[in-house]
Amino acid sequence: MKKVHIKSFGCQMNVYDGQRMADILGEQGFEETPTPEGADLILLNTCHIRDRAVQKVYTELGKLRDIKTAQKAQGQDTRIVVAGCVAQAEGAEIQRRQPAVDLVVGPQAYHRLPELLEQAQRRRTVDTDLPIDDKFGHLPAPKPAAIRARGISAFVTVQEGCDKFCAFCVVPYTRGAEFSRPVAQIMAEIERLAASGVQDVTLIGQNVNAYHGEGSDGRAWGLARLMHRVAEVQGIHRIRYSTSHPNDMDDDLIAAHRDLPQVMPFLHLPVQAGSDRILLAMNRKHTADQYRRLIERVRQARPDIALSSDFIVGFPGESDADFEETIALVDEIGFASSYSFKYSPRPGTPAADLREQVPAALMDERLQRLQARIEHHRQAFNHAMVGRTVEVLLERAGRHPRQLAGKTPYLQAVQIETETNQIGDRVQVVIERAGSNSLFGRKAGEPDTPSQNPAMLDPAARDPANKDLAA
Ligand code: 5AD
Ligand code: SF4
Repeated sequence: MKKVHIKSFGCQMNVYDGQRMADILGEQGFEETPTPEGADLILLNTCHIRDRAVQKVYTELGKLRDIKTAQKAQGQDTRIVVAGCVAQAEGAEIQRRQPAVDLVVGPQAYHRLPELLEQAQRRRTVDTDLPIDDKFGHLPAPKPAAIRARGISAFVTVQEGCDKFCAFCVVPYTRGAEFSRPVAQIMAEIERLAASGVQDVTLIGQNVNAYHGEGSDGRAWGLARLMHRVAEVQGIHRIRYSTSHPNDMDDDLIAAHRDLPQVMPFLHLPVQAGSDRILLAMNRKHTADQYRRLIERVRQARPDIALSSDFIVGFPGESDADFEETIALVDEIGFASSYSFKYSPRPGTPAADLREQVPAALMDERLQRLQARIEHHRQAFNHAMVGRTVEVLLERAGRHPRQLAGKTPYLQAVQIETETNQIGDRVQVVIERAGSNSLFGRKAGEPDTPSQNPAMLDPAARDPANKDLAA
């Protein structure tokens, strides 16, 4: 069998696309290999969201060229493919900067991989069409063995592209206009995943709550209606969705958090900034107060919901006062977790032309302050779990023998010691301690004896600095 090494950068959608490309190449007689060395085909599935992500790709390509040259000397041909959003944005420029690349294929063209690879044997090939044709309809279904190897949690792309045009963001240009997969196609995929042991699905899309795919009645269904259908699938116990825009959180979707037990109490809802002036400049089309009111409504539907957001610091023109409003919003909402980034100008986006760039040192300082607040709230959220009993879905072996690791409904990692359970079990767990990155617990109903396993004593949990965060 020929070997393919696939490396995905960036978001969850790239992870999903990487798996689908593995499925396509599997049909062509390729098996996946965890390292680039020895591979016949090396595929970089790239991210264009920030400049650093792009630089990483070129650095990585330099290393791959060396592997290709070394393997050539041993008589092995190696082909290098660049896929994903950098492929889309840079196109032929990639092969100009790194001639070792054989094929550049954009995110809407990868279902054509077999023919493109064939063509690339004769000449360097670029396919960055953004057609409205249905890529998903052309992808082979994953094989049961591949599904099982990927575990009991799966991403399913239900929507792709974005029509929002936030001033800083390349997504509308690299992934194209919003496209929603038809309900029947998504359901077939989820039924197939469930039949091979998947219990936990995250419906993904760049703007997933704008989902409006064709339903069984020929009409456009919203995300809430789709989730009602997914919740009917035997074996699917947990449903999440990501990433959402505040303006697309409709009443039905909020109600689904109250009405569907399978919909997890977790919501990633990026706000980006806390200042209305900056939100306006970002073209987010909502104010900070509208976001606060929305969160209130979500919390009314599901009071214990874990909230998460993305933030950008140093957007052009961001003043100290603007930044303080972001900090105030973070403290007010108390996010369970969040991602935060320094603003990175992206060629072709409206914000790239704005002149009032924030100096790099100030951006660093703001990012550090913001991350410290985010971390404070994350720790507080985790420590508040201590003493509570929660359902944990066991997903993998733990760090030590007899430990299994899983997730709470709030997407927190948990380690438990167990002789009797296995991966895939859902167990009631009493949370005993919160470490810096993991919770530790015992199965409910088991005696409350301290663990004899020294590995269970997470040093961070004993750190006196964490005391003020204890519930
Ligand atoms: N600079 C910094 N962060 C960005 N993001 C998107 N574009 C940029 C950019 N140009 C962040 C946003 C988005 C997340 C996926 O990446 O916070 O929600
Ligand atoms: Fe980018 Fe999200 Fe804004 Fe769409 S909604 S432009 S994906 S940040």
